Amino acid sequence: MATIDYTQKIPNNVDLTSDKRLQRALEAWQPNYLEWWAQMGPTDFNTQDVYLRTAVSVDSDGWAVFGHVRMPDYRWGIFLEPRDEKRIVGFGDHFGEPAWQQVPGEYRNWLRRLIVTQADTEPASVEQQRLLGHNAPSLYDLRNLFQVNVEEGRHLWAMVYLLHTYFGKDGREEAEELLQRRSGNPDHPRILGTFNEPCEDWLSFFCFTMFTDRDGKFQLLALAESGFDPLARTCRFMLTEEAHHMFVGQTGVGRVIQKTCEVMKAHPGKNPFEYGAIPLEVIQKYISFWASSSTDLYGAEVSSNSANFFRSGLKGRAYEDRYTDHKALEGVYAFENCVDGRIVKEDVPLRNAMNEVLRDEYVKDNEKGIVYWNKICEKAGVEFRFRLPHRRFNRRIGVYAGHRFDLDGNALDEATWNQRVGDWLPTEADRAKIKSLMVPCYKPGQFASWIAAPAKGVNDQPAEFEYVKL
Ligand SMILES: [Fe+2]
Ligand SMILES: [Fe+2]
Repeated sequence: MATIDYTQKIPNNVDLTSDKRLQRALEAWQPNYLEWWAQMGPTDFNTQDVYLRTAVSVDSDGWAVFGHVRMPDYRWGIFLEPRDEKRIVGFGDHFGEPAWQQVPGEYRNWLRRLIVTQADTEPASVEQQRLLGHNAPSLYDLRNLFQVNVEEGRHLWAMVYLLHTYFGKDGREEAEELLQRRSGNPDHPRILGTFNEPCEDWLSFFCFTMFTDRDGKFQLLALAESGFDPLARTCRFMLTEEAHHMFVGQTGVGRVIQKTCEVMKAHPGKNPFEYGAIPLEVIQKYISFWASSSTDLYGAEVSSNSANFFRSGLKGRAYEDRYTDHKALEGVYAFENCVDGRIVKEDVPLRNAMNEVLRDEYVKDNEKGIVYWNKICEKAGVEFRFRLPHRRFNRRIGVYAGHRFDLDGNALDEATWNQRVGDWLPTEADRAKIKSLMVPCYKPGQFASWIAAPAKGVNDQPAEFEYVKL
């Protein structure tokens, strides 16, 4: 079952031909998806050949092939990891029972909500990034943008397959609505906050793929533990694709930093902007914005929903097998509550703190990216060091929302915040400067003034490779 059947209208490894009703429903959704792509996907690049990878199997080695393809011809399909007949529910009240192949009736609504929430982020990010092709810093980056875009489209397919297959009529309605909501539209927005934020320059794109796609990684890790086996198998394969998105973010920001360091060495004491590079302080502000916004995506710190999702075996912890107590009935989580603006330590029943448990893993993973970026500064002999903002900084969801904290998590009054916020988050002037640097650089092997070349090409291609044929 690992090999994908590409002779079908919808490539898949789920034996779609054996279920004619499902096949028809998905084939009816397909033109609507393509229409959405034409309207809301990358603008103006749909007739160009792009060097893209396409999944050909779900095996960990050799799962993809590379070749030039027009994006609307990309073979979006449905790929699940193979089924393990012995798989059990790995956590919660049903721990040890055989994993479910059908949706448990009593959990149907929760499960649908989890799937729809994940699904909604996939087209949202494509919409957020749709204009970026016009000012790409290189063909290499342009190609990476489009790779991320087509794979987010495929993730939507993955989730829509689950909705169509297991949720009947309301699943099909949800699949339609996924094509109706629009990122940033005040009347009909995407479900989660970060996915409505504008992402109009490449520094934002790299921060987005670093921090927001990484939220995706941890949501997928938690759903890959699900007792609902088709969801777990879907998410496992999505994680394989997702890794590249975070690579684009981490190395993208890294290359911006590297270029700035080079300019700083060549022109000591000067503002890097004067030489077409981005000051490290401004990069830090973008990091602080996207990291804090993405930290909100885990939801409230103490949450009965998260307890329900865990208890029912629908959404687990990332790396559940690292834990010994899979029921999490006895443990507590030492939580720093915010009461009247003051931090108060409280023990919360572990199940109610599952959002925070997942956020902890996310923060740890983000820290590794910061270490990677600081090594670039260190190697260049530049003193500046990047940092992750404290998780309390600039939050809109959870107990810290509505209060003010600095980058170290110290409480501030409103007046101090207003005085300092321009040092911590991008100002209008910063954004305008960044925008002014966003001029396209489409010559093979060349890069815009504000970013260094990557260490190596995609699929070991040479530097002058024509990733996108314009
Ligand atoms: Fe995705
Ligand atoms: Fe992604």
